[in-house]
Amino acid sequence: MDTLALASFYQQTRQQTAKICFPLETEDYVVQPETFVSPPKWHLGHTTWFFETFVLLPFLDKYTPFDPDFAFVFNSYYETAGKRVMRADRGNLSRPTVDRIYSYRHNVDKHMDRLFATDLPQQVLDTIEIGTHHEKQHQELLCTDIKYILGHNPLLPSLVMDYEEFPVAKPTTWVQIHEGLYTIGHQTQGFCYDNELGVHQVFLPAFEIRSELVTQGEYLEFIEAGGYKHFGYWHAEAWDWVQNQGIEAPLYWHKIDGQWQHYTYSGLQPIDPKALLTHISYYEAYAFAQWAGYRLPTEFEWEAANEHVAWGQRWEWTESAYLPYPGYQKADGALGEYNGKFMVNQKVLRGASVATPAQHSRHTYRNFFQPDLRWQYTGIRLARHL
Ligand code: AVJ
Ligand code: FE
Repeated sequence: MDTLALASFYQQTRQQTAKICFPLETEDYVVQPETFVSPPKWHLGHTTWFFETFVLLPFLDKYTPFDPDFAFVFNSYYETAGKRVMRADRGNLSRPTVDRIYSYRHNVDKHMDRLFATDLPQQVLDTIEIGTHHEKQHQELLCTDIKYILGHNPLLPSLVMDYEEFPVAKPTTWVQIHEGLYTIGHQTQGFCYDNELGVHQVFLPAFEIRSELVTQGEYLEFIEAGGYKHFGYWHAEAWDWVQNQGIEAPLYWHKIDGQWQHYTYSGLQPIDPKALLTHISYYEAYAFAQWAGYRLPTEFEWEAANEHVAWGQRWEWTESAYLPYPGYQKADGALGEYNGKFMVNQKVLRGASVATPAQHSRHTYRNFFQPDLRWQYTGIRLARHL
């Protein structure tokens, strides 16, 4: 991307973040109901800190930080960038105020404009591009974190989000993929993260994969068949999770007067059996597949089959552990901490979701989360051996 294109990509992305937060009340910006959920105000500050720290401080002449305390407050996990507030304490940050964080955003945007008016070397353009994609990742996290905040408020308030949360599934078919060598990894000119690089071939035995994701109706059958009550479908740690946490349905599902309902951005709604299932953990995806007599695809099967199936409405749990590709090389400096250090004890998710921003999805994208997490828009794709 040249400077002009990048400047508009940056500005449009920054505006979109503010647009997602526009319907919030000040109080909504502050709370952290679980450690994995960040307060919206923290996302607004953190994405801004990323540009201040990795772009303005090193590359804009005479730039001084907006507030010297913000590095401590808004650094997420970069050891290279110094000490930071504990993740679980993000919800205690009544200060800086929401107003002050918006001033921070405007100030950084103003300085980014100054930078865009100069002749920028490729290294700076590349860092701004990563920072912009980083902000898009946080836009999706804002959508799911705000939902968690409101969905755990006992009043279950509704809020306007401009995407359809529960698309209806089309009729599904099985797609056959033949045995052979498949090329995995990002090969085109456009942007990708370092974890998609290290293009390599993988041998896949023949398999079948479903064209559509699992529906809420199909999952309801699993629940009604006692899926959550039979240890045989579950991994050992998954069964402990079901028992210890009393899990009996996907996140946001409530049985009210014998009827399953779920919290949505439109408030509490009856389950629609034809709509795509979402908000399930890897543990549940695996158990459902066991019960149904199928399995989850590996991330390599998913990538090989992507052109033949419908995707983009749910993150799809795969059977693959999040590991480096052969020859993986993390970036130099702080940005080397972006992806590589999380390659332990997590599962890869493929696809994209209804909350994934425009210009932020591709068939080589590797999302990753711990197997018990289910507040993202996660779903199930089934596969089977041929
Ligand atoms: C790729 C979604 C797991 O949530 O930490 C945000 C995205 N990386 N800031 C995460 C991310 C740096 C990342 N996930
Ligand atoms: Fe981040």
